Amino acid sequence: MRKKIVAGNWKMNTPPNGVNTLVNNIVEGLNTYKTEDLENTLVIVAPSHPYLGVIADKVKSCPNLKLAAQNCHHEVKGAYTGEVAISMLKSMGVEYVIIGHSERRKYFEETNEMLTKKVKLSLNENLTPIFCCGEPLEIRKKETHISFVIQQLEESLYSQLEAADFEQLVIAYEPIWAIGTGEVATPEQAQEMCLAIRQSIVKKYGNKIAMNTTILYGGSCNPQNAPQLFTLPDIDGGLIGGASLTSSKFLPIVEAL
Ligand code: PGA
Repeated sequence: MRKKIVAGNWKMNTPPNGVNTLVNNIVEGLNTYKTEDLENTLVIVAPSHPYLGVIADKVKSCPNLKLAAQNCHHEVKGAYTGEVAISMLKSMGVEYVIIGHSERRKYFEETNEMLTKKVKLSLNENLTPIFCCGEPLEIRKKETHISFVIQQLEESLYSQLEAADFEQLVIAYEPIWAIGTGEVATPEQAQEMCLAIRQSIVKKYGNKIAMNTTILYGGSCNPQNAPQLFTLPDIDGGLIGGASLTSSKFLPIVEAL
């Protein structure tokens, strides 16, 4: 059975004096759940790099909580001032890494080729990529959103990865027009795309891998809309930005799984 995941992408938004409280509240909240409620369920937090060491022990104390990085470099090591290598992330207890977020593609000009390198290197080093895809508003308006997203996956993943590698990944569909805008995709829009993604995985890697792949929805997900989104057949959880910054919003989203 595929895993259900709620992952909090804190972006560059958590103030230094708020990090401990946030993680403590999340751990406290998760500890009140019954083990069977969290069966097959993972909660992930992705803080900025300097906080990884600060919260690592706390995260480790909670079996269903995992640590993700928001980014990694695509080379093992080298003269890349300001960058962080996967081995460094792993030494902090990081198990997941967000790759291909639209903000990285836009502001840091990350190309599909670079993303493939990051994915391959992460897999080599046993770090699980949460691979993001999604269309901008103009593509949605032209109604070419499905082919646009499948093309992103084709170029970065399907044409590059063997089945044994692909099946390690988590996919996150995040329509760019819904990120941080308060404009969530309708359940129909989110399900349509996540189903199309799963069908494209069937075509490339077969039914078994497609059925086992966790596909998340991201983009203005909150405690109000999560329950409906998470009951859709091809949505296995969420990648949460704004609503992951306070436990009073994040935990109800976890409960919606
Ligand atoms: P949002 O961000 O929930 O604030 O829309 C989602 C994301 O960028 O992962």
